[in-house]
This record gives sequence, C-alpha cells and structure tokens, in this order.
Amino acid sequence: MHFLFAGLFAVSAGTTPLLAQPKRYSLDFDAGKYEPQTVTVNGNEISIRAFERIVYVANPVDTTYQILNIYIPEGYFHGETINGYTARSAPVFFPNRIGGYMAAQPATAINTPNGRPPGNGTPPQGPGGAPPNGMGMGGNRGPSAMALALSKGYVVASAGARGRMTKDAQGLFTGKSPAALVDLKAAIRYLKYNDEAMPGDANKIISNGTSAGGAMSSLLGATGNNKDYEPYLKDLGAAPANDDIFAVSAYCPITNLDNADAAYEWQFNGVNTYRRGGPMQGNNAAGAALTPEQITVSAQLKALFPAYLNSLQLTAPDGQRLSLDNSGNGSFKEYVNAYVIASAQKALGSGKDLSAHSWLTISGGKVTDLNFDAFVRYQERMKTPPAFDALDLGSPENQEFGTATVDKQHFTAFSASHSTVQAPRADEQFVRMLNPMHYIGTKGTQTAKYWRIRHGSKDKDTSLAIPVILATYLQNKGYTVNLELPWDRPHSGDYDLDELFQWVDQLCK
Ligand code: DHB
Repeated sequence: MHFLFAGLFAVSAGTTPLLAQPKRYSLDFDAGKYEPQTVTVNGNEISIRAFERIVYVANPVDTTYQILNIYIPEGYFHGETINGYTARSAPVFFPNRIGGYMAAQPATAINTPNGRPPGNGTPPQGPGGAPPNGMGMGGNRGPSAMALALSKGYVVASAGARGRMTKDAQGLFTGKSPAALVDLKAAIRYLKYNDEAMPGDANKIISNGTSAGGAMSSLLGATGNNKDYEPYLKDLGAAPANDDIFAVSAYCPITNLDNADAAYEWQFNGVNTYRRGGPMQGNNAAGAALTPEQITVSAQLKALFPAYLNSLQLTAPDGQRLSLDNSGNGSFKEYVNAYVIASAQKALGSGKDLSAHSWLTISGGKVTDLNFDAFVRYQERMKTPPAFDALDLGSPENQEFGTATVDKQHFTAFSASHSTVQAPRADEQFVRMLNPMHYIGTKGTQTAKYWRIRHGSKDKDTSLAIPVILATYLQNKGYTVNLELPWDRPHSGDYDLDELFQWVDQLCK
C-alpha cells in the first residue's frame, strides 16, 4: 500500500493532483451475471449457473487469486427441491485447491479433476481448462468433488488465495502467513454478506481441502470471527459479515507447524533412511541415509515432544488422560496406535488381505494388536529432521513464514538456534495465526461445530500425531469430530466423496 501511494504521488507531483483512485470492487452478488453450464455426474447431466471470477474483496491486492467461483443448481431458480434441499436450505460446499502453501486459483465445476494446481502463477482457468493434477496428489478418478456436490443439491463456492510466492508489481511478497487464510475468510464473509441474495444457506458452509489446503480448511473452522485477522480483512475491504463456518472437511492437514518437527521425530526417530516423494519434496526414489548431524537433531526434537503433548492435557473419550513419558511412550502413543488398528480393522472387514504384515496380530477376523514401531518402519520416513523448519530454510514452510521483503525465515526456536544459515525468525504472531490449535474454543472465536478429518495411514508428510492431537483437542473442547486414518492411503484427498457427502447430509438434513 505504502509503495502504491508513493508511486501515485510521484506521478502527480507538480501537476494538478488528479490521483487515480484504486478501483473498489462491489461486494454485492450480481445474480444476473452468470453463464449456464452443464456438469455430468455418473451419466446424469445437471444444469447449473456459473458465477465465476468474482473479486471477493473491495480492495484486492491480487485479482488473479482473490476471486471466487460460485456454482448453483439451476433448479433452485425454479423452486425445485434437490436431495431434500431447497434454495433456502442447501448447504454451501467450499473446497479450496491450495497445495504446498502456494497460491491457488478457485476450482471450476467443469472438468476440475480432484487434486490441486501446479501452484503459483497458474494462468486463469476457463470452464473446462482445468490444470492437470500437478501436485501429484492422486485424488480419486470419479467425478470431481464439486460436480458430485452439485448433484447432491449443494451450492458450491471455491475461492482462490495468495500463497508463499505471490508478489506484487513492486516485487514485494504479498502472500506470506496469514494471507491465504485471510483471503479464504474474506471469501466466507462475501458469502455470508450475500446470503439473502443467492440460493444456499451461508450458515451451513462446509470447507474442504487437502494437505496445506486441509490446514487452511482446519484454520477456517478453528478461527471463526477471531479478531486477530480483522486488520488484514479490513485492509482488503472484506465484506462486513462474520467468517465462522459450520463444518470442516480436512484431508491430511499439514498443520500445527510450530510443533510438527518434534511430532515427526517422535514418530520417525530411529528410522535413519528416508525416501522423498510427493509434491513438495522432489524425489529420491532410491532412498538415502540421514547424516550423523541429522540423527542428532532427530533425537533432540523427539525429546521436545512429550512436554508439548503433556501440556495439552488431552483425554480419550473414556476419560483416560493421554500422556507420554520422557522417552515418548505412554497412553498417547497407544491412542495413536488404536487409530491405526481401527484402520487396519476396517480394511480387513472390507476384504483386504493383511496377512503379509507380520507386525499385525489378527485373530478370529479381528486386528488385536499392532507393533507401532514396526509399522512406522513399514510406513518409511519421508522427511529429514527438522521436517518443517529446515535448518537451511529449504522447506515450503520456511517460505510461508517470510515477510514482504524476506522470502524465507525460521519459525521455531529450535531451528532458529540451530540454523545453518543464520536466518531470522518469523514474528511469532504470524506463526500463531496459522495454527488452529491456538484458537479452538477460545474467547471471541466461533469454532466450527463439526469436523471430519482423514489422514492416510501411509501418509508421512506429517506425523500421525498431528491429526490425532487436532481431533482430540477439538473433542475435549466439546466439538464433534470424525477422524479416521484410511488404511495404506498415501498423502492425498477427496478419495471417499460418497462418505464425505453422507456425513454432510447427516449434519444438514
Ligand atoms: C504439502 C505437503 C507437505 O509435505 C508440506 O510440508 C506442505 C504442504 C501439500 O501437499 O500441500
């Protein structure tokens, strides 16, 4: 902003000060501005109205990303009932396509495969011009989440957001934490502000995202209406409305970043080889060994985890206190293991042959035990310690916590003090504002009531402790959470859409 004004002044200095006003965008939904489209779901054609590329704030910083696509079943404009919903009662499904903490365009209804875009700088997509699944996230091959949601009578709204590499015309970074979350919140405010003007019930918004997008979905749910974000929303000219949401769908949320390094080593300490892979990590399919320095760092980080975990004072649904001793053993570890056992049980029940896994004890059609340490070796380590706040600033998260002028920073005390590049540490408030754990159920916050979290049992982009902590903390604060670790699933999302939408229907009907 300061740059912009300085520039305008320079141009007009000495002449009649005819300052060009930056364009202010209307926040009023224009029901007449749409394109009729058709989506095909399981052979059925559904007519929809597509309201695309709506700039959702009055003073955008970046109109490539701060835009919203809204899709509404045509039937709602003719008084129809779809799947038991009407124009007044239809839930609003709110998927984002954020991956790797990169900028993302909103999803389009037509031909949007599941999965996320290649990231920063993707050109605007027209209908049918969806990007390939560049993040390698391997969503399902059925109809897209958006199309399926429309077929179930939901209104679908997908917002774009700035990301860790977004820059303005002056070369300043505009998308560092908390920009992506602020953008999504602004889009939610737009939907709530315009609730009466469009079909769909903005009190029934269900956000959805995978990985960094799952983190954003969790953050939307955790931080509703919290004042910390207000100055940023105000600067953008966000609509005067609330930004709390009804429910969260999050696949493998890469979140709780300030504690994720310790959680990763709690799980993978002792696994001294790693195999990269996945969108953010490049590939070394052959695998490699940790260096002696990394093995030391792993032990140091692992040692930090029990104190963090114990500070949360988590309890299981049966009231048992979940804790860890100094070596990382204890009821919390058993609790994580119980989730993996439940996952194996579900796989077994659906007919999967698990007999090759000697670390599973199966008797009488029941998975009665699982050797967690052997399971972790089967899972394999993907990241080197520290997994998130890299000592050489090499992680996507280091870049997420940069500033307008500094691209990459540390964001934990451990990595700042062990840095190999003497880099600065991010402002703690910007780290805090990107961690749902700091907001759930706090004063002045409307945390979403309903949560559905999925994290594949073979997903090692973050520790299994992270989704278990998030779910348990939410439950302990009185929120309704459905967490599963689907068997052998790698890092991915949107693979169980029928179940996801059954869950939504059961909440909304
Ligand atoms: C994503 C994956 C990661 O391993 C990570 O550290 C951050 C983001 C992702 O797929 O979005």
